[in-house]
Amino acid sequence: MIQTNSGLRSLVQSLRPITSSFSEIAAYCCYTSQAASALQQVSRPNSYSEDEYAKVDWDNLGFGITPADYMYTMKCSSDGKFEQGQLAPYGNVDLSPSAAVLNYGQGLYEGTKAYRTEDGRLLLFRLDQNATRMKMGADRLCMACPSIYQFIDAVKQTALANKRWTPPRGKGTLYIRPLLIGSGPILGLAPAPEYTFLIYASPVGNYFKEGLKPLNLYVEDEFHRATRGGAGGVKSITNYAPVLKAMARAKSRGFSDVLYLDSANKRNLEEVSSCNIFLVKGNTISTPATSGTILQGVTRRSIIEIALDHGYQVKERAIPVDELMDADEVFCTGTAVGVAPVGTITYQDRRVEYNVGEEPVSQKLYSILEGIKTGVIEDKKGWTIEI
Ligand code: COI
Repeated sequence: MIQTNSGLRSLVQSLRPITSSFSEIAAYCCYTSQAASALQQVSRPNSYSEDEYAKVDWDNLGFGITPADYMYTMKCSSDGKFEQGQLAPYGNVDLSPSAAVLNYGQGLYEGTKAYRTEDGRLLLFRLDQNATRMKMGADRLCMACPSIYQFIDAVKQTALANKRWTPPRGKGTLYIRPLLIGSGPILGLAPAPEYTFLIYASPVGNYFKEGLKPLNLYVEDEFHRATRGGAGGVKSITNYAPVLKAMARAKSRGFSDVLYLDSANKRNLEEVSSCNIFLVKGNTISTPATSGTILQGVTRRSIIEIALDHGYQVKERAIPVDELMDADEVFCTGTAVGVAPVGTITYQDRRVEYNVGEEPVSQKLYSILEGIKTGVIEDKKGWTIEI
């Protein structure tokens, strides 16, 4: 099955700023069925059977790389149009030493997951959001980008080809990592002459070593994640290495991760190294507004929509760091992280503890989100695609 009617409607709505007509979506459906038949032609190892699981210790998955069988590659020609991509066994990538991504960091990545349902089917979640975000990022970094159709179709092919690496329900997920890189050679600073879109996948468990235990965050006021006018709002690969120093320092002091402040005034909350942040006070849930320095997380957006549906007030706004002292509950959201409760936050010489015991709001929202993603709760929003 490619897409339910309500899923199609939601895809049309979410693509409005980018696509012009329903006929493009219809073309997409046609395109995916062509791609599905192309997938049949991919050679598979003899031992492969769709019903079996790969040999993985499913009970001890962390967030590390266990490469699944296949990766997807698609290159664009000099006119910036991506040609038919293909699946091939997972392996190293052949790159020129002068590739733009290696020299100037011209690269974007995405993260999404495949979920097993109780009866072993595979669901993907809101891929249109990742595809749209990659387009925004490509525009920011002057890169050619696959179309929404090509992105979604490529992720579906990759997930399907690696189905046996998707953990049984309750044990984890198949993390899928689309990458768009300036692969063409360049010496002077300029956009690359060629781009490559790659997707690989790995089964994963919990992102944090704490597992599902509450996180202890450290508010960083020396290092910053993003600056106004920079690329913090898109998933540029260049947003990630600069946080490693602050993370390492926080971890060496026993914290789980770092919460960053805005670089202009060191006053408002931004996000954690790999996820967005939410504060709960009474019936109101607040999260920093995404005004260029904060990533527009797919989980962030989904939690906002679920919270609104369940009667919470949600405010996307500037949140002064002092409000941390006053919140009832704090939690983080991200594709890799999921919805993670925060137990404590330390800011300068103050440490504040949060409710993680009595029916936390984060737990309620997380259960609904996970229920939709794994087919336990009916998807009335058209967020999931079964493959
Ligand atoms: C994700 O949540 O998919 C991310 O991109 C975060 C990454 C650091 C694992």
